[in-house]
Amino acid sequence: MASLKGRDFLKLLDFSSDDIRHMIDVAEKFKAKKHAGEPHRYLEGKNTVLLFEKTSTRTRCSFEVAGHDLGMGVTFLDPASSQVSKKESIADSARVLSRFYDGIEYRGFGQSIVEELAEYADCPVWNGLTDEWHPTQMIADMLTLRETFGTDLSGRTLVFMGDARNNVANSLMVVCAKLGVNFVACGPVENQPEQWLVEECSAIAAENGSTVLVTSDVEEGCAGADVIYTDVWVSMGEPDEVWEQRIKSLSPYQVNAKVMSLTAPDSVFLHCLPAYHDTKTTVGAMVADKFGITELEVTDEVFESEKSRVFDEAENRMHAIKAIMYVTLSDEEF
Ligand code: CP
Ligand code: NVA
Repeated sequence: MASLKGRDFLKLLDFSSDDIRHMIDVAEKFKAKKHAGEPHRYLEGKNTVLLFEKTSTRTRCSFEVAGHDLGMGVTFLDPASSQVSKKESIADSARVLSRFYDGIEYRGFGQSIVEELAEYADCPVWNGLTDEWHPTQMIADMLTLRETFGTDLSGRTLVFMGDARNNVANSLMVVCAKLGVNFVACGPVENQPEQWLVEECSAIAAENGSTVLVTSDVEEGCAGADVIYTDVWVSMGEPDEVWEQRIKSLSPYQVNAKVMSLTAPDSVFLHCLPAYHDTKTTVGAMVADKFGITELEVTDEVFESEKSRVFDEAENRMHAIKAIMYVTLSDEEF
């Protein structure tokens, strides 16, 4: 397999199936080391910078802890504390930061921003979520599924329920196609994925023996599924005004006990998190107050059920991000 050293990690369409499997393998190895308490400061002396234009718990903490575990220095910059974008262009910021750092993480809005950062930076750039893609999440999700179903995921079926054209849904379609996992986008017509992506992923899936299905029929979508996956109905960067319409159109796609009863006996539930499964958040309480609904994309019952793997999935973000940083910064086997 070709080395990934020096590559940017912007979206999974840029990587082969073997590259993706390799990143999951490395994540698995790092997880075993972390759990065994074995130090792995393989990137001592290197430094990374994390640029966050949107909020984060998992992604930020994963980059910070993974960086520290690998022996690297880590700098966090939020929009208020740097010149990036407001006083200094992305191109200039990229050229400045790559004089200091060995890798740059970016979370923000349009994919074109992270692409421009990568074009001008001399070091690897890692996409920590854009409006279009969330690729680091995918390595963690597939690691979580390997832990459930074994290393070969081909032939399994993953259903994404809800806003099936957001960054997470788009990325899942790609990773499933690359790994030969059947992918189902299940949501109302206005929340279905873009046609070009469905066509591109269908072609990739066909090469790997799997399929892509887009449907608004919950029974058709979920029957016999191995994995039910959902995400928030309104993503970061979207205006609060869309809540009302989304609640109306996406409520039939809530993941609840009835949906899970359609799936395979050993099926699991995944969610990238954060999740609105009760009213214990500001947004959850606001929605309950305004629209009278107390659980959104997933019910508390499913979220807390034995089928739910969401906290393993969250932990795996750190192992996955460690692997992504490692393979793009070093080609030494360990
Ligand atoms: N899943 C995820 O990316 O979580 P954060 O927004 O907390 O980083
Ligand atoms: N689709 C969500 C994912 C959060 C991890 C968002 O962009 O807000």
